[in-house]
Amino acid sequence: MAMKSLSVLATLSLLALTLPLAIASDGLQDFCVGINTPVNGVFVNGKFCKDPKLVTADDFFLAGLEKPRPVANAVMSNVTAVNVNNLPGLNTLGISLVRIDYGVNGQNPPHTHPRATEILVVEQGTLLVGFVTSNGDGNRLFTKTLNTGDAFVFPVGLIHFQFNVGKTPAIAFAALSSQNPGVVTIANTVFGSNPAIEPNVLARAFQLDPKVIMDLQNKF
Ligand SMILES: *[C@@H]1O[C@H](CO)[C@@H](O)[C@H](O)[C@H]1NC(C)=O
Repeated sequence: MAMKSLSVLATLSLLALTLPLAIASDGLQDFCVGINTPVNGVFVNGKFCKDPKLVTADDFFLAGLEKPRPVANAVMSNVTAVNVNNLPGLNTLGISLVRIDYGVNGQNPPHTHPRATEILVVEQGTLLVGFVTSNGDGNRLFTKTLNTGDAFVFPVGLIHFQFNVGKTPAIAFAALSSQNPGVVTIANTVFGSNPAIEPNVLARAFQLDPKVIMDLQNKF
């Protein structure tokens, strides 16, 4: 009997410890519109909150996502992000959006989002997509060819990509589980860091001649 109530007590105190954490990560109030200065603001989670009495529908609104974006660049794609930085009503809500335009043969190159899982839906065209699991899981590639209306999930932190394998430009939209997911584009991060990583480090890591590494570093 004493043992039983002891374990009930232990369970309850564990719950009491973990419950506030679970609730806090789900957001702290109905909304907390981001502002950049602390005037009349309260610091909660990355941004100051606008006085709720001054919040309007426009704080939750952004137009123009129907417009095609130019893709005349090295990877032939363009990511238009809708996150807390251009849609302040997203502050504390743990969600954001991107529109991605792909030219023919264009790609969204291998990258990760340190703070978000992503779910992507194809609006137009055909995309070869994939992600690779972490070292402990054997770096397995999960890949799929997606057509208009198909959706695919990229789990948080894992390296993933999309490649336009169709004969026309492609468009996708994706939702991300953070107001500010962050992006680490692998090639740019490794070969285009500022300042550059010592070429011998990358030569050993990638099993390449240091000259090849320096060529790559000049590209990024
Ligand atoms: C993406 O499109 C915007 C215009 O919507 C443009 O300003 C920007 O330069 C484009 N980015 C790339 C990488 O081409």
